[in-house]
Amino acid sequence: MYQLNFSMAEFVEQYWHKQPTIIKGGFKDFVDPISPEELAGLSMEEEVDSRFVSNHDNKWSAEHGPFSEDKFGQLPQSHWQLIVQAANHWHQGAAQLAESFKQLPNWLFDDLMICYSAEHGGVGPHIDQYDVFIVQGHGKRQWKVGAKDEGQYKESIQASALRQIEGFDPIIDQVLEPGDILYIPPGFPHEGTTLEPSMSYSIGYRSPKEQELISNFADFVLAHDMGDTHLHDPEFKTQSNFGQIRQSDLASLTKMLHSALEQPNTVSDFMGCLLSQSRHQLDIVAPEPLWKAEEVSNHLAAQGEIYKVSGLKALYHETETNVAYINGEVIKVEEGDSALLTSLCNESIIAPEQTFSPSAIALITDLVNKGYWFIEE
Ligand code: SIN
Ligand code: CO
Repeated sequence: MYQLNFSMAEFVEQYWHKQPTIIKGGFKDFVDPISPEELAGLSMEEEVDSRFVSNHDNKWSAEHGPFSEDKFGQLPQSHWQLIVQAANHWHQGAAQLAESFKQLPNWLFDDLMICYSAEHGGVGPHIDQYDVFIVQGHGKRQWKVGAKDEGQYKESIQASALRQIEGFDPIIDQVLEPGDILYIPPGFPHEGTTLEPSMSYSIGYRSPKEQELISNFADFVLAHDMGDTHLHDPEFKTQSNFGQIRQSDLASLTKMLHSALEQPNTVSDFMGCLLSQSRHQLDIVAPEPLWKAEEVSNHLAAQGEIYKVSGLKALYHETETNVAYINGEVIKVEEGDSALLTSLCNESIIAPEQTFSPSAIALITDLVNKGYWFIEE
């Protein structure tokens, strides 16, 4: 298990969305959760999102995985980096590292990206719209971070795939060693260069943009066949200016627009569904054959654990603990099963040392049969 060696609450108060910083020894005696060879193995898998970035002779190139064995048989000594997105979805140790950041909510968490960098490897100077904690594993990298982007940086696209900027003056310039953590809020330019072959782990957080909320809400309204009404105004009067939109008509139409957003249940369901959808592929496999409730009950009675698919988002609203949003789906339970539902959302394992009502077993069976939780046989 990984444990942060600093107070996340104090860190958040001082730095979150404010300033980049380095937390020296953020993990004590850090041990890499994965080897470079295992990482290469992941990048050969069809369902895993990976990239290979090379910067030999200052010429940038970026290639998407999956990669073949051959790729790793003939690698140059230096100037390249292998990147695997959402490694926490596919690797248990990576998932455990991500778990140590659980004081930050699941709805904000995006993924754990892992980079193996050969000497001088990196992705060049760039700006992300993510909050990221970059945990240094084995090796050493030098990190530079510049002042927040206020439109002063010039974009330069490399190899038609890499979004870089032309350069920046560093406000941070430091070498990270195993266990050190660099935090970068959105909008601060940064660049890592590799001094010694390195593994680094980027724990990324992404909040939705206003335009995403609006466009996804419009899709939600259409999908649920809501708001299928025209403006109704029996008090309507004639007007002398044919081309004019009266202030009163603008007000009625604006009210219509607002009214959709003033349905608290609609908005909370919409947010739950949107925020519980992962942006990266998940290892969801429905069991075959399906489990029967009795078998699930027997498994728990025999002290067997049941695991949540790594990276699956299961969320609930603070004031509504009998509804969960799991991978974009709404799951409602009776009040009596609220405690189970919230622990399903908060924990990654269903621990067997509790009593389960028949309705609780039915819920767990349904989730296992959807492939959202699984039983190791
Ligand atoms: C890197 O490790 O070079 C890429 C990580 C990042 O800049 O976000
Ligand atoms: Co970055």
